[in-house]
Amino acid sequence: MSDILVHTEDGVTTLTFNRPDKKNSITAAMYASLADALDAAAADDGVRCVVFQGNETTFSAGNDIADFLNNPPATTDSPVFRFLRGIAQFPKPLLAAVCGPAVGVGTTLLFHCDLVYAGDNAAFSMPFVNLGLCPEAASSLLVPQMFGYHRAAEALLLGEPFMAEAALEVGLVNRVVPPSEAAALAQQVARKLAAKPLSSLVATKRLMKQGQMKQVMTVMAEEGEQFGRMLREPAAREAFGAFMERRKPDFSKV
Ligand code: COA
Repeated sequence: MSDILVHTEDGVTTLTFNRPDKKNSITAAMYASLADALDAAAADDGVRCVVFQGNETTFSAGNDIADFLNNPPATTDSPVFRFLRGIAQFPKPLLAAVCGPAVGVGTTLLFHCDLVYAGDNAAFSMPFVNLGLCPEAASSLLVPQMFGYHRAAEALLLGEPFMAEAALEVGLVNRVVPPSEAAALAQQVARKLAAKPLSSLVATKRLMKQGQMKQVMTVMAEEGEQFGRMLREPAAREAFGAFMERRKPDFSKV
């Protein structure tokens, strides 16, 4: 079975992370499938909105770390960057149902979603600094904006996880429900959206987003340039090696 499931029904495309043995971590091939599915959903007038989901215990452990080590993105056309531009510029509503860990891009993609529903087991984290990296997906702009600077510094400089209730308090999440109800709630809301006129949905989202779209794309490109360089540097190599070897990283020499 594919690692990304794409299912369209009643005007709603659902994209499911389906790599449970690796905690739904995302490979280059998965980013390519996601980017293709977003392009198709944007172009299809029969699709009114898109829902991201994992399962009841895991949303996504973020980028596949073995891929980071062995197959780091080489150019701005790499699947990961195509996917990030795709979510930032997606013209129709994006929703997410998040349960369990949402690490790295598993959290940063949510800043590009319009509506987010979380299971009470959701644990969000952006541990870029702990991996010798820097923020991506315009999170260096969007996290301080949403959280306020000091809470953003806690999330991005310390890389500490925060739970569903904290995410609700800062506005990253619309509602917290038991994990068994999160996917159904997202589908219910998606179907509500799907019954509305597409032109109004698209115009309303564009009007809400257009004021800062240029800045989001500029920041995303700048982060991508630094992130791509840092992936190949000693701090990140040490962090990835430590994860693979299940040991603590030693940054004393980098
Ligand atoms: N990339 C590649 N493999 C990953 C992964 C990732 N991001 N996250 C988890 N896995 C793999 C583990 O290596 C393990 O594989 P194995 O069974 O072949 O050894 C399997 O998924 C289960 O992971 P495990 O760590 O044992 O699960 P857990 O429930 O104890 O912890 C997480 C779950 C998500 C908290 C933890 O796996 C984690 O922190 N992952 C790394 C997250 C990360 O740093 N992502 C990059 C962000 S930029």
